[in-house]
Amino acid sequence: MKGAYWHKLTGTKVSFTVIILLITTVFVYTWKRNPLLTSFLLSSDQFRIIPKDFENLQESYPGNKLPSKVPDNTSETPDIDPDIWNDEKEDDEVRENDPEDCNYAKGKWVPDTGRPFYSGSECKRWLSEMWACRLMQRTDFSFEKFRWQPENCKMPSFTGMKFLRRMRHKTLAFVGDSLGRQQFQSMMCMITGGKPAPQVQDVGWEFGLVKAPGAVRPDGWAYRFPRSNTTVLFYWSASLCELQPLLNGSDPKFVSYALHLDRPVTFLKKYLDRFHVLVLNTGHHWNRGKFQGNHWKLHAYGKPFSDKLDLSTAKNLTLHSIVSWLNSQIVRNPNLKVFLRTLSPRHFVNGDWNTGGSCDNTVPLKGGSEVLLEKSSDPIAELAVNGSRVRLLDITALSQLRDECHISKYGKSSNGVHDCLHWCLPGVPDTWNEILFARI
Ligand SMILES: *[C@@H]1O[C@H](CO)[C@@H](O)[C@H](O)[C@H]1NC(C)=O
Ligand SMILES: *[C@@H]1O[C@H](CO)[C@@H](O)[C@H](O)[C@H]1NC(C)=O
Ligand SMILES: *[C@@H]1O[C@H](CO)[C@@H](O)[C@H](O)[C@H]1NC(C)=O
Ligand SMILES: *[C@@H]1O[C@H](CO)[C@@H](O)[C@H](O)[C@H]1NC(C)=O
Ligand SMILES: *[C@@H]1O[C@H](CO)[C@@H](O)[C@H](O)[C@H]1NC(C)=O
Repeated sequence: MKGAYWHKLTGTKVSFTVIILLITTVFVYTWKRNPLLTSFLLSSDQFRIIPKDFENLQESYPGNKLPSKVPDNTSETPDIDPDIWNDEKEDDEVRENDPEDCNYAKGKWVPDTGRPFYSGSECKRWLSEMWACRLMQRTDFSFEKFRWQPENCKMPSFTGMKFLRRMRHKTLAFVGDSLGRQQFQSMMCMITGGKPAPQVQDVGWEFGLVKAPGAVRPDGWAYRFPRSNTTVLFYWSASLCELQPLLNGSDPKFVSYALHLDRPVTFLKKYLDRFHVLVLNTGHHWNRGKFQGNHWKLHAYGKPFSDKLDLSTAKNLTLHSIVSWLNSQIVRNPNLKVFLRTLSPRHFVNGDWNTGGSCDNTVPLKGGSEVLLEKSSDPIAELAVNGSRVRLLDITALSQLRDECHISKYGKSSNGVHDCLHWCLPGVPDTWNEILFARI
């Protein structure tokens, strides 16, 4: 299974798998008249290359219990609250200022007994068990009862109803790594209040997000709230770059991938026209271990790049080129709102994730509750969007203050390894979504 699965296949099995893939794809194609052939094949490869050894901390989904097919109840069950839909006068809160005039990253955490937005033990349809700390041995949950108060801006109160009204006939897409997936799951729980919401449809197939035979999971998930015709999706792309399988003449079993730093991931090129709000993130895959495990080979401008290239430089090149491409797309379609989410901070102390590092603090905001800096704590992302129409969703410094909010030692299959990278949900990514909501 997982990454090793692909590489263990013999040549015969590879061709067999390819034939099955093709047949299934053609079947899906004719079934739904869904022109998604190439991304179906390429992207499922992309998903398979997750290395086994980073299972707990990084990008595998050991506890993933999301059903691949949810009940397709397309009846006219209203989303959330039936009465408000037809009331056109019931509009969003009046916005006095342009939300882009405000720096949401500067402010403070304040106690709020009205939090969280949903229950971490109830949001089972959307929230993976591996991130639901309420389902673990953890006993302290005071960290759930805080909200972020930006210094100089009004934070609109989030409700699922308001979100859906604002996103009527629109699509919100998260594209990124497991931290992006956390933000996606948080958003689904926030909109539904953690309820199963049987009327919400699984529309993954519309975006090629179907589980390939032999794959552990699809490349992402897409759900639609039928009443408001709002779609929320996540697509897995840890690097945001195009990945191209490289054939190995001497050993056909050994598949590596050209990581084209200057080319946006195929999924974006294919579906961007259907998105209204896009939230990107990347960051924790730009290290040697990940590159080796994933068999990624640096490429830029169509040619292999020296493996000696510093990976932070490689990431920087990718950020600048994807921002520049998206900027040109926004010029073409000014209604598109694109956010680059800044780096989600890690909190390992006394070692890294694989050398006994931990994050044992349970006292909220022990290190302070305020962000006073005007500038982002992720200067690479900040510089990448500067001068473009891509916006910065700057969550680094405010998340930095919340070291007590990680999965820590409570992950089920952690084997003693602490997870000080991913967040408990409900938790910090809910705040990222509140800020996002304030700006869409
Ligand atoms: C859809 O769900 C509603 C309520 O949950 C139920 O009454 C109805 O029978 C369902 N319809 C279908 C087609 O399954
Ligand atoms: C739903 O929204 C999409 C745009 O995201 C639009 O193309 C489509 O026509 C809408 N469907 C309905 C039934 O209004
Ligand atoms: C081809 O496969 C072998 C392993 O069998 C590997 O050592 C070699 O690096 C691969 N070549 C390329 C260009 O990836
Ligand atoms: C990132 O790339 C930009 C544009 O090429 C360059 O100006 C900047 O110095 C680079 N930053 C780093 C940290 O490499
Ligand atoms: C963004 O660019 C402007 C010039 O266009 C410069 O004055 C400003 O300092 C830059 N901001 C950052 C954060 O680099």
